Amino acid sequence: MAKATSPADLAITPRDYRFGRDQKMGRWWLNNDPYATAFYNALSVTFPKGEGFFIDSVRSFRDGTPPKLAGEIQAFIKQEVIHTREHVAFNRHVTDQGYDVTLLERHVDKALSMTKGRPAIANLAATMALEHFTAIIAQQLIANPKHLAGGEQQPAAMWRWHASEEIEHKGVAYDTWLHATRDWPRFTRWRIKALVMILTTIKFFNGRRKGMLELLRQDGLTGPLVWARMAWFVFGNPGMGRKIAGAWVSFFLPGFHPWNHDDRKLIALAESEYEAAILPRTTKALVAA
Ligand SMILES: [Fe+2]
Ligand SMILES: [Fe+2]
Repeated sequence: MAKATSPADLAITPRDYRFGRDQKMGRWWLNNDPYATAFYNALSVTFPKGEGFFIDSVRSFRDGTPPKLAGEIQAFIKQEVIHTREHVAFNRHVTDQGYDVTLLERHVDKALSMTKGRPAIANLAATMALEHFTAIIAQQLIANPKHLAGGEQQPAAMWRWHASEEIEHKGVAYDTWLHATRDWPRFTRWRIKALVMILTTIKFFNGRRKGMLELLRQDGLTGPLVWARMAWFVFGNPGMGRKIAGAWVSFFLPGFHPWNHDDRKLIALAESEYEAAILPRTTKALVAA
């Protein structure tokens, strides 16, 4: 039976790590594959501003929340702030490799400009939907080693670390939404939630599709065959889009809650994998001290 609540013993712990600062990242850092690299690079460009939007949306509903949720919102904000910092650093590696991400940033600005002047609850709803999206991508990223196989150590570790924290805080925006809409009729709440999920999914896919195509264009890859190979990467093999489809659908089912599926073991699994990438720096710091 679904619990429809976050685990009572859930601890959201910001892990303040830095990745890849003193290293150069390859142009095609993921498996020497321009498609795989473009997928993650295009996604990363959205994070600094996107996560800023998530933070603002959730923070504006913090007042009046029960103490446990208020604490989780605080931890969520801390995690997202650190994610932003690491994706700014990652994106710098991307531009260092000669990519121009101006157009991709413009797509993000355009999407975010639509949220200006809207009721705060609409922005919270969009955040709640996108956080579910992020969490199911994160689950897939850690659970299926295929996605980051062949990736350079530092960027792959950064993505695993980010994914693990997205799993850890996956219920925060949802619980904030549940609290903010606690007086709404059940069906209204579901209708808005479902509508917002569909709209944000379309926007999200469209935006990232355009972003990937632009980065591939800068690699000299254009035309219908490139479109087909890109679609194969997303929906065929490794097929992130196909593999998250079931978890995406679960969002619409009655009694849905992100923690109905307790996947905390993936957090520990990711930690064991990215630790190798952060240990050398810790050792260096100790030696320097
Ligand atoms: Fe994040
Ligand atoms: Fe998040």
